Amino acid sequence: DDKDEKSGKDDKSSEGELLKSDAKLPQPFTAPLAIPPVLKPVRSDADADYYEITQKSAKAQILPGYTTEVWGYEGRFPGPTIESRSGRKTVVRHTNQLSLPTVTHLHGGVTPTQYDGYPTDFLLPGNGGRVRVDKSIAQGSYDYVYPLAQPAATLWYHDHRMDFTGPQVYRGLAGFHLIRDDAEQALPLPRGDRDIPLMICDRSFAADGSFHYPSIDPSLTGKPGVTHDYMKGLLGDVILVNGTPWPVLEVDAAKYRFRILNASNARRYQLALDPPPPKGAAFTQIGSDVGLLERPVNHDSFAIASAERFEVVVDFSAYPVGTQVTLVNRFGSGTTGHVMRFHVARKASDDSSVPSTLVKRDPLAAPSSVTRSVKFSRSGSGYETWTINGNAFDPNRVDARVTLGSTERWLIKSNAHHPVHIHMGHFQVLARNGKDPRPSDAGWKDTVDVLPEEEVEIGIRFAGYRGRYVFHCHNLEHEDMAMMANLEVT
Ligand code: C2O
Ligand code: CU
Repeated sequence: DDKDEKSGKDDKSSEGELLKSDAKLPQPFTAPLAIPPVLKPVRSDADADYYEITQKSAKAQILPGYTTEVWGYEGRFPGPTIESRSGRKTVVRHTNQLSLPTVTHLHGGVTPTQYDGYPTDFLLPGNGGRVRVDKSIAQGSYDYVYPLAQPAATLWYHDHRMDFTGPQVYRGLAGFHLIRDDAEQALPLPRGDRDIPLMICDRSFAADGSFHYPSIDPSLTGKPGVTHDYMKGLLGDVILVNGTPWPVLEVDAAKYRFRILNASNARRYQLALDPPPPKGAAFTQIGSDVGLLERPVNHDSFAIASAERFEVVVDFSAYPVGTQVTLVNRFGSGTTGHVMRFHVARKASDDSSVPSTLVKRDPLAAPSSVTRSVKFSRSGSGYETWTINGNAFDPNRVDARVTLGSTERWLIKSNAHHPVHIHMGHFQVLARNGKDPRPSDAGWKDTVDVLPEEEVEIGIRFAGYRGRYVFHCHNLEHEDMAMMANLEVT
């Protein structure tokens, strides 16, 4: 078939290339939104809650009339949600029943290095695995121990295997891990059925309904006859929310809290409501990547890059009952221009509210004298390598040595769109190109959306544990193409 017909740039604001589906796509807004089940601990004691997750392949019905093989935590995509209390140890025993190594990372967690999911800390399959590698933490099962000495937040867990994170997450290895605490619980925010996690990601489907993830030898990129470069980032034409294409959710005319995660490999979204509410802002942001804001921030729309989280409150009582409200993506077009729909079904009582001050967070300490320059760029000719300060990832090289407990100023420069994620250290955005950050940069973060030719200044605090961590681009194709570096906390 005509390859140029299948690809295209529907979206100049995302790094990457669109791969169109060959399967027949459903009408949008017909399937109900699914909410991932909350996993129950297998036991609890005075110290900790213990969970068990089996990573395995399973058949899912994602597109009507097709079955899709997923690699899922508990065979589910998204994986089950884990809910923890702040400061209470959570132990997750992961068992690998897939046929290749995995690495599990709790994104946004402040975690000792041996449980952080370092990209070569492989958990090998328990049996039937054909892959043998010399670096591994375990075969079969491994207990990831999370102290979670951090405030209430919307974290997520996902695969992090070196060079293969893109395809392994794409096949389904991602789930929510929520932390709750007393300060959050004391707030009159929407709760229960009106506190909903939304994992947004894009996929492309082959003619048989399987996930379409092309393997292209990067050394061929740019050579005659090879017209696509999905290693710039793979963009699918189907938008899934919690694993369902363009779902619909019936809502009360009341306030809802949505924990929005962009779990896409490469796609950025500019989210807005259509129609916008007749009065008031569409979204009241109450939380960022790693917890609640001190004060809410209103947005009519906001951009969300891979791995970022926005916790927002939407007040559907601003709309007449019967209104269909579409969550749209202003960066997309055609099938990628809409995400999901809310049907305002009925009047309902609502005693929730968003106070003008939410929680007290630790202030960012004055950065030490260390200013670190980190440049994300591509290099090489004939093929593409994505580098940080000119280097491709090498697990044996320390790229940044930082002191436990310190706060540093980092200047992140980029020649393209790169969502930059740093493990262990949480940060605040101080400036973009020397000017004020965007309103949507508010709060403590672990991922920052860096635009082409931009210099983003952050203040980052390394409070946690000593040891070896990474920072990297969270465009998963860039990450797999070695845009990652080592952070040594001493
Ligand atoms: Cu969400 Cu290092 O990853
Ligand atoms: Cu990148």
